Amino acid sequence: MRFARRLDLVPPYLFAELERKIEEKRRAGVDVISLGIGDPDLPTPEPVIRALQAAAADATTHQYPTNRGLESFRDAVAAFYSERFGVGIDPATEVVPVLGGKEGVAHIAFACLDPGDVALAPEPGYPPYTSGPLFAGAEVHYLPLRAENAFMPELEGVPSDVAGRANLLFLNYPNNPTGAVVAPGFFERAVEFARATDLIVVHDNAYSEVAFEGYEPPSLLATEGAKDVGVEIFSLSKGWNMTGWRVGWVAGNAEVVEQFRRLKTNLDSGMFEAVQLAGVAALTEARSFPAEMSAIYRRRRDLMIEALAGIGLPAEPPQATPYIWARVPDGHTSETFTELVLEEAGVVVSPGPSFGPSGEGYVRVSLTVADERLEEAASRIATSLRVGARA
Ligand SMILES: Cc1ncc(COP(=O)(O)O)c(C=O)c1O
Repeated sequence: MRFARRLDLVPPYLFAELERKIEEKRRAGVDVISLGIGDPDLPTPEPVIRALQAAAADATTHQYPTNRGLESFRDAVAAFYSERFGVGIDPATEVVPVLGGKEGVAHIAFACLDPGDVALAPEPGYPPYTSGPLFAGAEVHYLPLRAENAFMPELEGVPSDVAGRANLLFLNYPNNPTGAVVAPGFFERAVEFARATDLIVVHDNAYSEVAFEGYEPPSLLATEGAKDVGVEIFSLSKGWNMTGWRVGWVAGNAEVVEQFRRLKTNLDSGMFEAVQLAGVAALTEARSFPAEMSAIYRRRRDLMIEALAGIGLPAEPPQATPYIWARVPDGHTSETFTELVLEEAGVVVSPGPSFGPSGEGYVRVSLTVADERLEEAASRIATSLRVGARA
């Protein structure tokens, strides 16, 4: 059999490889603690589950949904954006449901990019910022995120010939994997850049509801002029422990929303209406749930930061996201450190370069496991470092 060459354009999906390694270790009897994947360990809030149960029992939800989404879903999104971000969204034209943020990221590239076009993508970054554009036949120009720039990309540094061909700019704050939050004035600069360069900005806002110590991550759409140049992708996955449910939306510029929806009418038949109604419950009855989860992640963050510092791995406590972006010890690369903790401690962390070359020297530690397991992981890493030092 012969398969499409586009499948070879991207390396194996990062977490597919991690999952394979975890499975291998588990089969060998190792009690693996995975801090590799950002998949919340705690259940979806009760009101959301109850809403799904009730809606699934109602036969009116059983037929094909529309790609437009239920009016009640779009209204709930608009009300949430208004209350949470101070952003007005027209539910009729400025929002469309997506089957998780990942689908939104990948498919928006298909709606915005032709072969020969360029997508500007942060690096290290979420892998679909690469696979979406490449599958669409476009090129990716990476924007390195470095500690010395507070993990903000240098938009001014994009070469003019690249900027001339660029039609899409991906941004993501709070950021995966670095945990960085947007610097004051950066969204304004991004909107200005998009205007000057005549491109579409897509802000991936997957993590705004996981934030600590009173910090409230903003929406790109709250920036003046943002809706003229772009959209935001939002997901219920992280804030509401709903990764398995596949609920998100694209909101913002009506033309982008319309073209994206046009693409999607050819690719899928929308989101199960019972799931949309569960999404409404998340945004209304379970509106305060992300704050409760953030309190849990904050406790875990502090616990892990302290444990890492204790073993000579100082890391900045992030203001948002369930991730710690930690430097590896001297004498290690991201890969040797990841191998060491997997082999000697049975702990999985994500090597920084799996998110892009600028991730070298870092690993990402996910806080999506119970406190006891985090403590156990930290103590096993400490032991493995002592073993590693003796070896
Ligand atoms: C930066 C970023 N964007 C989007 C997503 C997608 O989440 P989902 O498809 O579950 O909405 C993730 C998930 O890890 C992510 O890290």
